[in-house]
Amino acid sequence: MSEEAAATDPAVAGLDVRPMATHIGAEIHGVDLCSPLDDGVVDAIWSAVLRWKVVFFREQHLDHAGHIAFARRFGEPIVSPSRGDASPAAFPHVQTMVDRLRLSERYGQDRAQWLDRRRPTLLHKWHSDLTPWIDPPAATMLRAEATPPYGGDTTWANLAAAYAGLSEPLQRLAMSLRAEHRRGVGYLPLPGHDAYVQDLQENPAVSVHPLVRVHPETRERLLLISPYYVERFVELSRGESRALIEMFVDQATRPEYTVRFRWEPGSIAFWDNRATIHLAAQDSEHLDCPRILHRVMLAGDVPVGVDGNPSTAVAGRPLAEPRGELAAPR
Ligand SMILES: [Fe+2]
Repeated sequence: MSEEAAATDPAVAGLDVRPMATHIGAEIHGVDLCSPLDDGVVDAIWSAVLRWKVVFFREQHLDHAGHIAFARRFGEPIVSPSRGDASPAAFPHVQTMVDRLRLSERYGQDRAQWLDRRRPTLLHKWHSDLTPWIDPPAATMLRAEATPPYGGDTTWANLAAAYAGLSEPLQRLAMSLRAEHRRGVGYLPLPGHDAYVQDLQENPAVSVHPLVRVHPETRERLLLISPYYVERFVELSRGESRALIEMFVDQATRPEYTVRFRWEPGSIAFWDNRATIHLAAQDSEHLDCPRILHRVMLAGDVPVGVDGNPSTAVAGRPLAEPRGELAAPR
């Protein structure tokens, strides 16, 4: 990524960037991601990611190697610590997400049961990827291989717009808060042995992040609310935390701050994981169609608040640390 990225004009690079909503989301046409990309195109795509928070490509039939090669133009792919998200043989940086099958194989319970134990409402599945770790990914690239003919959309929300849209007193309150992001937070264990609880105990991940984070590149202030992982703010009671989480989630997910994307085979979503949260609609489970998506995430840095104080790690190793034991094909 060159330092002139922000100044790159997409049109000069031959890209057709089509915004989809006022605050977030753009489709990018005029580029074949299977071909080698010159630096101007890479810079223009990155500029669009920073500007629109999530960008989408259609009809891009990358294989795993091509997906990783594309990702490497923008940063360093990480190996996810999420156990059981099967990586294709020889591609540890790719995670294949097959929603309906994954959880039953991992934890011996079906997805609906696990979800019901996982969060009080499906709206609490809104999240940025891997925020329980001290250095959440900077960006995620999700590629669709197989999709149902309808259903299974994903929605993203712009956290910079969410912060900017708060009243000044609430902005000040938000800037004063730090949230505990915890893997498996709020999960209601099964009676007796619960393989998910065992996994949480063996692989804990907990970090405390500022609720308002300064974007390391754009310097925007971001309302870092990730309710899939957050149940309390530091120093607040659980009751106080619950009320504030609801309020900030309502703010972040206002329809005007969101964009919804319909997947097709060959679709790619590429988002700034620092500046967005996302939610997968749970509306395709009844369809007898596979939904297979492949994910590559780029290493990110430790969030920093408006006061200049960074996040603190409570448990778990940084994502940027090599995970050799997971690098073997399986
Ligand atoms: Fe996600």
